Amino acid sequence: MREIPRDILIEVMEDVIEDLHGHVHRVSDLAVNLGTGLGLAEQDLDRLALAGVLHDVGKIHLDPSILGKPGPLSDSEFELMRRHPELGFAMTRNRLDSKVAEAILYHHERWDGAGYPFGLTAEEIPILSRVVLVSDAFDAMTSVRAYQPALPVDYAVNEIRSNAGTQFDPQVVEIFLELASMEMLPLELIA
Ligand SMILES: [Fe+2]
Repeated sequence: MREIPRDILIEVMEDVIEDLHGHVHRVSDLAVNLGTGLGLAEQDLDRLALAGVLHDVGKIHLDPSILGKPGPLSDSEFELMRRHPELGFAMTRNRLDSKVAEAILYHHERWDGAGYPFGLTAEEIPILSRVVLVSDAFDAMTSVRAYQPALPVDYAVNEIRSNAGTQFDPQVVEIFLELASMEMLPLELIA
């Protein structure tokens, strides 16, 4: 079989999802660095690399007018948006390692139970999802979005610090802050 350039497939996915070139690679890189700091096994680092790239793949099913909307979503639009973890799980569960599919399913669960789709708390949430959540949150804040300009790195780091124990796993945040202090956070290059 001839080789298919996989990066192009990832770019196509990014185009469809949110015009977010590079986002998924930064999420993936930071997730692997966080996982390394947490002492996760090689196999889990491989899973994080893949889950980081595919965490939002379920958004392919959503209406582009919702994905690219500048400004807040209506309640019904938000309800649709909240389905993307389950859609992504359905797309990957029979194709990938089950732990990668689960990392996608739970990547919007919060440490305090206020996340979705299930409202799991703390260690009920797989560690791979807790790592992707922090990584995704940081990149969402520091890259340009339809609904906001890129926020300063210091602001994003402070947001993550102050949400340790509510939104985020405190142990993951600890490693994140270590990476931040060493200036090892991946950033979007804004032209
Ligand atoms: Fe997501």
